[in-house]
Amino acid sequence: MGKKITIAIDGHSSTGKSTVAKRLAKELGYIYVDTGAMYRAVTLYMMRKMFVSENNFNEEAILRHLPFVDLEFKLNETTGNADMYMETENVEEEIRYMEVSKHVSRVSAIPDVRRKLVEQQQEMGKEKGVVMDGRDIGTVVFPDAELKIFMTASTEKRAQRRYEELKARGEDVEYEEVEKNVKERDYMDSTRKDSPLVRAEDAIEFDNSEMDLEEQFEKILKIAKDKIEEV
Ligand code: DC
Repeated sequence: MGKKITIAIDGHSSTGKSTVAKRLAKELGYIYVDTGAMYRAVTLYMMRKMFVSENNFNEEAILRHLPFVDLEFKLNETTGNADMYMETENVEEEIRYMEVSKHVSRVSAIPDVRRKLVEQQQEMGKEKGVVMDGRDIGTVVFPDAELKIFMTASTEKRAQRRYEELKARGEDVEYEEVEKNVKERDYMDSTRKDSPLVRAEDAIEFDNSEMDLEEQFEKILKIAKDKIEEV
C-alpha cells in the first residue's frame, strides 16, 4: 500500500455520499468525517435556543452563541461508526430529523459558522488517512486532497432515497415534502455566497442514479486504491 491520502467526497444532499464514504473509510482503515453532521448539530443547537424556527432567524444571536457549541465525534461501539455529540449528549439521531433538514442550509450559509467548522475539519484531517464528505471539502477544506469525488444523482432518485430513509426511521413525512426540501437545499447550497457547492475542477464526477450501493462502492474503492498506489 502507498501513503495515506485525503479523500474528499462532495455532492448534493441524499446522493448517498455518507454511506459510500463510511464504508470506504472502514475498508481502508481511514477516519471518516461527516461534515454535514456538524452543520446539522449547530442548527439543532440554535433551534433549541429558539434562534431558528419556522418564523424566526436571529443571526445576531446565532453568532453570539456559536463559540459555545461544543461538537465531537465519538465512536459508537455497537455500530462501529462515529456518532455526533453535542457536549455529552449523543445527537446523532436528532440531527437527521426533517425539522433540522429544513433549517440547515440557512444556518450553514453563515460565513462564521463555516469558518468555525472548516477549522475543526482541517484539524481532524491534518494527518491524512481521512475520508471526508460534504459540499466544500475538495474546494475549501482540503483543496489539495489527492482524490476528489463529486457524487450526483437525479433529484427524483435522491428524494426517493431520502423519503425511504425517513419512513424506515418512522418519521411521518410525505414524499412531496421531502422532494421540496431536497430541491430547496440544492438551490441554497449551490447559490450561497460563501463556499457554494460546486464541483472542484479536478474532481471525478460520479453519477449513481442507476447504480446500487454495492456497484458504487466497488467502483469507488477501486478508484481510491489506484490513487493510493499512485502517490
Ligand atoms: O450532507 P447533509 O445533507 O447531512 O448536510 C446537511 C447540510 O449541511 C446541507 O444541506 C448543507 C450543509 N453542509 C455544508 O454547507 N457544507 C458541508 N461541508 C456539509 C454540509
